[in-house]
Amino acid sequence: VRIEGCVALVTGANRGLGRALVRELVGRGARTVYGATRTPGTITDPGVTPLTMDITRPEDIVAAAARAGDVTLLINNAGIDTSTSPISAPKSEAEMRRDLETNLFGTAEMCRRFAPVLGANGGGAILNVLSAASFVAVPNTAGYSVSKAAAWSFTNVLRLELLNQGTQVVGLHMSYLDTDQAATRSGGRRLDPARVAASALDGLEAGQHEVLADTMTRMVKKRLGGDPVALYPSLARPGS
Ligand SMILES: NC(=O)c1ccc[n+]([C@@H]2O[C@H](COP(=O)([O-])OP(=O)(O)OC[C@H]3O[C@@H](n4cnc5c(N)ncnc54)[C@H](OP(=O)(O)O)[C@@H]3O)[C@@H](O)[C@H]2O)c1
Repeated sequence: VRIEGCVALVTGANRGLGRALVRELVGRGARTVYGATRTPGTITDPGVTPLTMDITRPEDIVAAAARAGDVTLLINNAGIDTSTSPISAPKSEAEMRRDLETNLFGTAEMCRRFAPVLGANGGGAILNVLSAASFVAVPNTAGYSVSKAAAWSFTNVLRLELLNQGTQVVGLHMSYLDTDQAATRSGGRRLDPARVAASALDGLEAGQHEVLADTMTRMVKKRLGGDPVALYPSLARPGS
């Protein structure tokens, strides 16, 4: 898709990567940019039209699809990481379900309700914000890792199912971003959300199916086809 002149909707647009994405869309000349948020009043960027919605509430999604019937680019960015695992903390099963409710089922419902809108508007595109965690599990984040792996698989299904209506479906994967979500994770370099947003839109415009936004993510994806020890070095030194 061409970004210039498109009508985009971004979920979770009030902070983090979502805010970087709406800024990049405005900067590249999108005709309309709907910034979806759970909290009215938190979308303040010039050129962004606020839309109040919670992606875990189907009625909000139906209302958004009716209000924003001109959308040609849907960006499912909203996501959570409860950083829990039912293995190490059994009571956290409810948290794991919460990760899935947002990252998998919320994203899937957005796609289901907006697919006809995109089809009616000529095909357009969907960008699902996934993660390097779609490819490699992170200890003590079972809910997040499972949800992003499942959302990757869902994105691959969606791409095939929307082929006939001409909708481009892109998965965006990356490692830690310099945003609130990863704020409590171990030090190390974090990616600039503005740069990741630019790579995502470049990938969309280039007609890619998948954008791997950083070196670490590209390396992880390559190692998927090999021995699990290549992806999980600690398996080679049990007990360490
Ligand atoms: N941060 C990382 O290191 C990293 C790495 C790889 C992938 N990702 C993915 O990138 C995306 C953006 O993450 P981020 O780092 O920008 O996170 P963030 O700073 O925590 O922002 C998350 C955004 O999602 C919104 N959101 C959460 N649940 C929602 C719901 N049920 N309905 C509507 N909006 C909801 C939040 O809204 P509120 O302000 O209302 O909470 C917020 O706007 C996520 O899908 C995340 O999993 C992040």
